[in-house]
Amino acid sequence: EKVNEENLEPRAPVVTIMGHVDHGKTTLLDYLRKTNVTEGEAGGITQHIGAYQARLDGRLITFLDTPGHAAFTEMRARGANVTDITVLVVAADDGVQPQTIEAINHAKAAGTPVIVAVNKIDKEGANPDQVMNQLMAYDLVPEEYGGSTIFVKISAKFGQNVDQLLEMILLEADVLELKADPTVPARGSVIEARLDKGRGPVSTVLVQQGTLHVGDPVVVGNTYGRIRTMQNENGQDLDEAKPATPVQITGLNAVPAAGDRFVVMADEKSARAAGEEREKRAREEVRNSSSVVTLD
Ligand code: GTP
Ligand code: NA
Ligand code: MG
Repeated sequence: EKVNEENLEPRAPVVTIMGHVDHGKTTLLDYLRKTNVTEGEAGGITQHIGAYQARLDGRLITFLDTPGHAAFTEMRARGANVTDITVLVVAADDGVQPQTIEAINHAKAAGTPVIVAVNKIDKEGANPDQVMNQLMAYDLVPEEYGGSTIFVKISAKFGQNVDQLLEMILLEADVLELKADPTVPARGSVIEARLDKGRGPVSTVLVQQGTLHVGDPVVVGNTYGRIRTMQNENGQDLDEAKPATPVQITGLNAVPAAGDRFVVMADEKSARAAGEEREKRAREEVRNSSSVVTLD
């Protein structure tokens, strides 16, 4: 169903953190998780769902757990362009490294703006100016040198300037004028999925348009079902999820793949038919592309 211009509402930015090994991606995410948790934390147990939301001044930012460059590329290859903004983490004591450059190339290919977080500024031997100079060769030019790239000097370990980084993300989000229509049948992308012994297929999905409800019939890649439960990263049950909200869902017949698209259908019967049709087509594609591989 088509998005209606008149129904567009501002939505939270979706941010991916990338950077070279050990430059501090996980430390930054951990710091954010500890300090900028969303409402209703009391009693809630933070669980890994592959994505979560931070809040600054009442505004939400959706972070995708750094999926690694391979996963990022794989998701893009499957047509799931979920990221609005890339935060590039560069350690000030190590400078630009091979995976820094890879990350820049991924961000460029995806067409997302890059905000540079120059990290570990608390460390002896930290040289943020050198990082800025090095990155100019990759068209990431700080405003003070006449460019338009936002640089924030942070210590992910101690939280220094992390709020400023969030502010800059929100500023960039304002420029992008991110909007979505919460009134259409929900659709979005799978962030990650696995089989849980007790609960069956468990998937984290990002709602990109519309509002997802418990009970909605969905087709997700080649899988289908009805949303049985929906939870946020704090393990709280939700009845609905608006655009840019990551939620963990159960109720699918099988485990979808990261990057698979989901869409809410009119009823369970058509969701099932669509899922089975896609499954059949996927099998045929595999059969046609190889004389060796067969699935049955
Ligand atoms: P990979 O996931 O392996 O690519 O690494 P990463 O980018 O997630 O780095 P991680 O957060 O694991 O940090 C690597 C090391 O750097 C850890 O020992 C952190 O404690 C340390 N570290 C991260 N940020 C900072 C910082 O701001 N200051 C200092 N002093 N150490 C930091
Ligand atoms: Na590490
Ligand atoms: Mg890490």
